[in-house]
Amino acid sequence: MIHLITGIHGFAGSHLADLLVKKGEQVCGLAHSLDNDQNIAHLGNKIKVYQADICDRLQVEQVLDSVRPTAIYHLAGMSYVPATVDSAMFDSHFRGTLNLLESAKELKLKAKTLWVGSSEEYGLIKQGNGLVDECHPLSPLSLYGVSKSSAEMLANSYHERGDLEVIRVRPFNHIGPRQNSRFVVSSFARQIVEIEAGKEPILKVGNLNSERDFTDVRDTVRAYLSVMNVGQSGDVFNVCSGKTKKISSMLGKLIEQAQVKIGVESEEEHFRPNIPVSLAGDFTKLQAATGWRPEISLEASLGDTLTYWREKLS
Ligand code: GDD
Repeated sequence: MIHLITGIHGFAGSHLADLLVKKGEQVCGLAHSLDNDQNIAHLGNKIKVYQADICDRLQVEQVLDSVRPTAIYHLAGMSYVPATVDSAMFDSHFRGTLNLLESAKELKLKAKTLWVGSSEEYGLIKQGNGLVDECHPLSPLSLYGVSKSSAEMLANSYHERGDLEVIRVRPFNHIGPRQNSRFVVSSFARQIVEIEAGKEPILKVGNLNSERDFTDVRDTVRAYLSVMNVGQSGDVFNVCSGKTKKISSMLGKLIEQAQVKIGVESEEEHFRPNIPVSLAGDFTKLQAATGWRPEISLEASLGDTLTYWREKLS
């Protein structure tokens, strides 16, 4: 098997590369630039990375033609959920999906593709509606969610027309080492480590009342692989823990592992309007198809994230 990961330099992409390399698989990556490779530098020449802009059809097609992958994992995109309109985000999600799948089709690749979406596609979940399964209507609130759900429809149409084998996943929040500190857990962990190093002992936070369903990124990418092994074209799977955690409790658990006293201050700029406040997913379908379940505890994930920042900032 030849595996191609788009967005290999990113958070999930780099952990997926780790997992595939550990299994002895042949791994290639597509990255926007060959710089910024700190997440995969430790893999050295065990993987081969090609430079291409996912929004440039010709560049994408050239990489696919050089690699001729048998499995494609489409992780390239913009993962931060911004509050404002960002047309580059629509480009990278929609046009990126179009370029990748259209090129795979034109080149007649015999590749299964994993298209990676987001729980943000579901939008606002009324409290009391229980866990969100894959049949829940997609009704995104955030423009990020809209960009992902429109790209998901596009991706699935390649399956519907019989052009390509495409499996979709909707991951909920994933956390762990290497995540950008714009995201909540990494932001808190980084600030704790900076405070441990002598910075003013005030940790800046946004909405601590919102709730999310968190999975360790290493469990998330293990789910991606399981789905590629046994999933059928046209399938869609949630990847999540099935539990919500309040952001305040995540903060509390991180502070418990801090080596110094920490004060907390709320900051208006971290509050985002029009995004779902509570999200919890149902992974019954994924578990029934693959046997997957989350294995890494929240405490271990948070501890590893702190360790990552302690090493990075030391
Ligand atoms: N980033 C951030 N910073 N979020 C904060 C903060 C803060 O200081 N304080 C509270 N929050 C709250 C946010 O309001 C949100 O409710 C929650 O923490 C999680 O925010 P993020 O970590 O930024 O993630 P997200 O839920 O917006 O999006 C992530 O998960 C999606 C899947 O559900 C991203 O990984 C997306 O790419 C992914 O699709």
